[in-house]
Amino acid sequence: MTTLAIIGGTGLSQLTALNNPRHESVNTPYGNPSADFLIGEIEHKTVIFLARHGNPHAIPPHKINYRANMWALKSLGVQDIIAVAAVGGITPEMTPASLAIPDQIIDYTYSREHTFFDGKDGNVTHIDFTYPYSQKLRAALITAAATANLKVSPIGTYGCTQGPRLETAAEISRMERDGCDLVGMTGMPEAALAKEIGLNYAALAVMANWGAGKTAGEITMAEIEENLHHGMANAAILLQKLIAAY
Ligand code: HPA
Repeated sequence: MTTLAIIGGTGLSQLTALNNPRHESVNTPYGNPSADFLIGEIEHKTVIFLARHGNPHAIPPHKINYRANMWALKSLGVQDIIAVAAVGGITPEMTPASLAIPDQIIDYTYSREHTFFDGKDGNVTHIDFTYPYSQKLRAALITAAATANLKVSPIGTYGCTQGPRLETAAEISRMERDGCDLVGMTGMPEAALAKEIGLNYAALAVMANWGAGKTAGEITMAEIEENLHHGMANAAILLQKLIAAY
């Protein structure tokens, strides 16, 4: 039997479907995770939930202790992680409030603690990262979307920016030329650390807005909240189906 964890991002700071949740705090060699882990059941399966930005939502993307989060999930016996993330849409399919299951990543972040293999143990270790996401979990998400009758983009390249500011219009144009379909701030180093520590990892991206310059005018927090409200409700339905079939 495998254990599933859900990492909730902006707009998904709790899993209301989680039954009998207990709090577990985990100390790690890398410091404190974002929050206590909530361990409960959904559809009679153990599910572990972590609020990536803390509870209350207070940790910006570049300050998240990604290493502590991944290390703690491993120590709790997790094998599979679904990471929910609010993102901006870049290419035409990625309309506000829609869902996507990315299959590739381009990393634009800097100055983050991004590896467990920092050479301190005297070893140089390189991991393969050709396919950053677990194909098994991506397939499970795609199947769950079909079961729930929800439209999702089944592929897409996730460009991860440093944040916390949103991008300029020129940055989004460049990302589009690079091949990015969507843009977020937390997908890296999270995905790479999961791979380094041997955890299966896939992302469920929820479009909060069009990327900068894709619409006339500026991006407002009101539009982000409105789209996330709809998108995260669908994400929760999809997760329920995924867990039912898990
Ligand atoms: N850019 C980066 N991260 C985001 C965005 C965006 O436009 N929207 C939600 N997260």
